[in-house]
Amino acid sequence: MITYRAMIPLDIPVVASLEKEIFKDDPWTVAQFKEEVSNNGFTRHYLVACEGQHQIIGWAGALCATDGADTDILTIAVVPDFRMRGVARHMLTSLVDWAYTKKSPQIFLEVEKNNQLAQALYISEGFAAISLRPDYYGVGLDAVVMSKILT
Ligand SMILES: CC(C)(COP(=O)(O)OP(=O)(O)OC[C@H]1O[C@@H](n2cnc3c(N)ncnc32)[C@H](O)[C@@H]1OP(=O)(O)O)[C@@H](O)C(=O)NCCC(=O)NCCS
Repeated sequence: MITYRAMIPLDIPVVASLEKEIFKDDPWTVAQFKEEVSNNGFTRHYLVACEGQHQIIGWAGALCATDGADTDILTIAVVPDFRMRGVARHMLTSLVDWAYTKKSPQIFLEVEKNNQLAQALYISEGFAAISLRPDYYGVGLDAVVMSKILT
């Protein structure tokens, strides 16, 4: 059974190791995850998806600097064996719900222009493309900025 809970510091070695496999070109480091998770429940909302008691199969996180500010989704990933089961959609919904609790007028994310699967998920959850950031992920790797209005 897949369950969801807040990410805690103990999760970070596993998450960082899975991160290296999924985001090969520019994975977040242990130090970056530590910094993010140290603010969990305050300016950050990071969660993990687990199969059974302990196997981490996905994670996601968002930032809202202060109540009433916009929220930014910073990461979302699911390990290959557990994709297409609604895990990312569940975590995305959790991030959006958190943004509502922070009274964010809008929630934003960046996604690689060629990442059609992720864009299909975001569009189906009410996000729309608002701009393009050329070379955001490296030369020739543009980012699409997407947002959803929450008010
Ligand atoms: C993108 C990613 C997070 C999706 O995770 P997931 O758990 O498989 O997604 P879900 O099962 O919740 O899928 C939700 C929707 O996404 C789209 N989608 C995801 N994978 C898809 C696939 N292989 N084929 C077609 N549509 C797909 C569909 O719209 C799907 O909705 P549906 O099931 O109603 O058709 C996952 O593929 C991943 O981790 N990719 C690598 C990291 C990444 O790209 N992260 C996003 C960075 S912005």
